[in-house]
Amino acid sequence: MSDVEDESNKLLEVVNLYTYFRTESGIVKALDGVTFDVRKNEAVAIVGESGCGKTVTAQSILRILPKNGESVEGEINYMGVDLLKLTSKQMRTVRGKEIALLFQDPLSALNPVFTIARQMTDVISLHRQVDVEEARQIAIDMMNRVGIPEAETRIDDYPHQYSGGMRQRILIARALSLEPTLLLADEPTTALDVTIQAQVLDIIRSMQKDMGLSLMLITHDLGVVRETTDRVHIFYGGRVVESGPTANLFLNPKHPYTIALLESIPSFKKGKGKLATIPGVVPQLINPPIGCRFHPRCVYATDICKTRPPIEFIGDDRKIACFHWKEIDEQRMKNKGSK
Ligand SMILES: Nc1ncnc2c1ncn2[C@@H]1O[C@H](COP(=O)(O)OP(=O)(O)OP(=O)(O)O)[C@@H](O)[C@H]1O
Ligand code: SF4
Ligand SMILES: [Mg+2]
Repeated sequence: MSDVEDESNKLLEVVNLYTYFRTESGIVKALDGVTFDVRKNEAVAIVGESGCGKTVTAQSILRILPKNGESVEGEINYMGVDLLKLTSKQMRTVRGKEIALLFQDPLSALNPVFTIARQMTDVISLHRQVDVEEARQIAIDMMNRVGIPEAETRIDDYPHQYSGGMRQRILIARALSLEPTLLLADEPTTALDVTIQAQVLDIIRSMQKDMGLSLMLITHDLGVVRETTDRVHIFYGGRVVESGPTANLFLNPKHPYTIALLESIPSFKKGKGKLATIPGVVPQLINPPIGCRFHPRCVYATDICKTRPPIEFIGDDRKIACFHWKEIDEQRMKNKGSK
């Protein structure tokens, strides 16, 4: 594993991103200097408790924030171009065509009054230089590839004629028919039946590999992270606190929050595991804790933790933002050794 970052391999790089919301009770500092990257052809997980800024990160990248929100500082470099500097018109060609978004709820992303054919071909002809017949063929091919049976005829059905899992497959097909380079999937299976979730994730992962695209998967489910992704970025309170290759990070978590997260899941060692709650409360983002945002909940906190820990590159392709990671790691290794 390389200790040096390969710049040429980066597809998306979010640098020191601050996204704020104006509300009646004050400014919500949803993203407070978020830094991470997504490389070419890899599947990256974004993980963290509810409210830590995962969805806002995806919305900031695509510039589809709610009206009261704004990215006030930072860079979102996509293939070397800062998306925050593009005009709205330029951004419209990036959205969908370059970077596609898969929603949590497949039903709300489809219009109930139009056929699937109409909803797929509209998008395809908008972004690709093809006529309606070609667009329809592209749509059918893609529906076949994501495992929708009898796509040639079923394409003329309406969304309500499909099950939840099939609707999500349609959205995957629609997103991928534009041949994007990056797919952002925000909890893409949460709204689906448990039995269907694994199938849909398998499709996302195999399409990602087949088409050679990058995947940024937002999820609460650490079992899914372990099975589906190559690297993981752990979010806490609007910041990234730890990043690294999935297998390595799960085997040897170093940030106290990641450690607590992995240890709080009794069933995790058996291969499954939703994020359980860890002691303490999720930080209030209108009035967040100073310094390390985890310090009110951290068993290792000292005075210095009331200042902001820098992000450190610690080898093995891993990064961490914690003042005491080294001592904590040494202690954990000793404890492991004596067991
Ligand atoms: N339109 C908005 N106005 C004010 N605050 C907002 C708005 N949208 C999001 N937030 C706040 O921004 C923070 C991050 O929200 P976000 O939706 O990104 O969380 P998340 O990590 O996606 O959580 P979940 O796992 O529940 O989906 C939260 O504190 C949320 O309340
Ligand atoms: S910086 Fe301090 S408070 Fe934050 S995680 Fe590390 S030890 Fe805990
Ligand atoms: Mg969310």
